[in-house]
Amino acid sequence: MSNKIRAAVTGVHGYVPSYVVTNEELSHMVDTNDEWITSRTGIKERRYLKGHKGASYMAAEAVKGLLEKTGTAPEDVDLLIVGTITPDNTFPSSANIVSDMLGLKNAWSYDLNAACSGFIYALVTGSQFIETGRYKKVVVVGVDKMSSIINYADRTTCVIFGDGGGAVLLEPSTSENGIIDFELKSDGIGCKYLHKVAGGSLNPSTIRNIYGQDHYVYQEGQAVFKFAVVNMAEISYEVMTRNGLSGDDIQWLAAHQANKRIIDATANRLGLPPEKVMMNIEKYGNTTAGTIPLLLWDYENELKDGDNVIISAFGGGFTWGSIYMKWGK
Ligand code: UT7
Repeated sequence: MSNKIRAAVTGVHGYVPSYVVTNEELSHMVDTNDEWITSRTGIKERRYLKGHKGASYMAAEAVKGLLEKTGTAPEDVDLLIVGTITPDNTFPSSANIVSDMLGLKNAWSYDLNAACSGFIYALVTGSQFIETGRYKKVVVVGVDKMSSIINYADRTTCVIFGDGGGAVLLEPSTSENGIIDFELKSDGIGCKYLHKVAGGSLNPSTIRNIYGQDHYVYQEGQAVFKFAVVNMAEISYEVMTRNGLSGDDIQWLAAHQANKRIIDATANRLGLPPEKVMMNIEKYGNTTAGTIPLLLWDYENELKDGDNVIISAFGGGFTWGSIYMKWGK
């Protein structure tokens, strides 16, 4: 074993709200139907967070479960990073709120905004603090309450997104397992295709822009699809080939759940059969930063010690990337 400290995922936990919204229910709100949504996206249902609760509530539920499951005392956490584009408010950060809710008294904490790549950006960032030897316990969250920024009169976006998220614990690896390699990218060319017009410092919320529905997600779906389908596959392929890996060497692909057609194309490019591809888009839709920790949580019992896992995401910004890790402590 090399002397380099690796950051291993030593626990995972997720949270999804209990309220289920089916394709059938959406078809009463906008001009859509189950056949269109299922065949174009793979989504059957998604969750909405009801009541006066923000993303930090879901993050806190996930982190609370993670700490219990891993036997981690709240005061032993060194750092908490929350990947989200739907923080409770612009400030303080959701991470600060979660720290307070759960008594992470010795941790510093911050939010990270990379849209659908939020979790992988946060995972790589958190892993650096483990690899340098500075910290022993870093909690990384990906969570979004997309229902708070979606226009439920826009059929092109409202059928896709849902609420939820999850958390992982990063600790120094005690074996060869852990994060081995990654590649992350961003390109502002994506701004025009996927953004929110109002509610930030450029266009602060006004009665006028709220009536104009500028505080919701704007997406040019086809354009985003084209970038996503090429870049998610290519960056994963790059990470695999430079580590001498072919599809045969990979046990699992955990890809951002935006569209089943994008995930299938990525798996195809990487030479991975469907049984190696984690998939839960049918029950949660696109939870933005939440999709990958929710996948790891759903597949936790199937993941085996030493499994080669490729994690991949693409989203607003544009932001995208891929991580190669060996599962286990
Ligand atoms: O996670 C962040 C990154 N985001 C993504 O990766 C999303 C990437 N994009 C996509 O997944 C797909 O582009 C969508 C799922 C958003 C849309 O699927 P599409 O196959 O690209 O459909 P389209 O936009 O080309 O629209 C095809 C037709 C249009 O009708 P016409 O012009 O052909 O008559 C749309 O108006 O489907 C219509 N349409 C719908 N019909 C029923 C659009 N949305 C709906 C809908 N129900 N919900």
